[in-house]
Amino acid sequence: MSQSNKPNRRSFIGKLASLGGVLGLAPFAINRMIGAEIAKPVNTITPLDKPGATMVSTWNHGIQANIAGFSALSKGGTALDMIEAAAKLVEEDAEGLSVGIGGLPDRDGIVTLDACCMDHTGQAGSVAAMQDIMYPLSVARKVMEETPHVMLVGEGAKMFALESGFKSTDLLTEKAREAWLRWMEKHEYKPVINIENHDTIGILALDNEGRLSGGCTTSGVAYKMHGRVGDSPIIGAGLFVDGAVGAATATGLGEAVMRTVGSFLVVELMRGGLHPQAACETAVKRIIDSMDVSNLQVGYLALDKTGRHGAHAIHSGFNYALTTLKTENLIDATHG
Ligand code: GLY
Repeated sequence: MSQSNKPNRRSFIGKLASLGGVLGLAPFAINRMIGAEIAKPVNTITPLDKPGATMVSTWNHGIQANIAGFSALSKGGTALDMIEAAAKLVEEDAEGLSVGIGGLPDRDGIVTLDACCMDHTGQAGSVAAMQDIMYPLSVARKVMEETPHVMLVGEGAKMFALESGFKSTDLLTEKAREAWLRWMEKHEYKPVINIENHDTIGILALDNEGRLSGGCTTSGVAYKMHGRVGDSPIIGAGLFVDGAVGAATATGLGEAVMRTVGSFLVVELMRGGLHPQAACETAVKRIIDSMDVSNLQVGYLALDKTGRHGAHAIHSGFNYALTTLKTENLIDATHG
């Protein structure tokens, strides 16, 4: 074979980029999958008639999560597969103090995880206060797909996870244990607003077939009472998806979200005709009007079935990652 006929890396990249076009992958997503050699898009990708795959995820960690989601899409995955892949990436990051392994424990030094997911058909699964299992959103998906139930909690959730093949893992890292020991010196319960620009990760995805799904996963408020469950695994509070309308997810202090059934409210406002941005603003206002918010943060993130998105929080500091066919952005949410 002559030198000019050899399959080389550049032609491989071109083919992959074309494949990305078929799948509706953003050029940067393809670049990330194939490594750093190509810093710029190598092909023109024709936009699809449909909105095209879109992911929005809360906080800085949403950028990497969305890349994992688009990678799942490139392998033929659905919106729900995008959600699960994105969640897994963040759940297994032991450095993050608010999701999965490495999450800060409750006041007794025990890490308990909450997660849920929902698909475009209205199917839902959830686990709450689950110990020793690294991938709570994947367990929630199994609850949804393999049981007649929506929610399993505590020991029952863990038993189900172990029966389903998940491994038992110590989720309390040295970094989290040291933080807990420092907290024990004062024992002061005080939720931290915008903890390191990481908190619950809420993820919403629209795939190329127009299917919407969502997921939410967290270790909950740091140093909470043992047994406390926040909004994240509560369908309608931390997450709600209606495939015919849109999806919403929440981050911040779960008690405020649960009292106002926040994500359901955002979706219902979109059903009534509001843009996702206006829906998030109205739901935040509901909280501001009903309680003292000086020391609490809540942020909502929404995506409608046409790919429009929006986010709004009580205080500044909330951001979200947007990934589409054409763009990847970390966007500061509006607030107030
Ligand atoms: N939003 C997470 C929690 O309150 O647990």
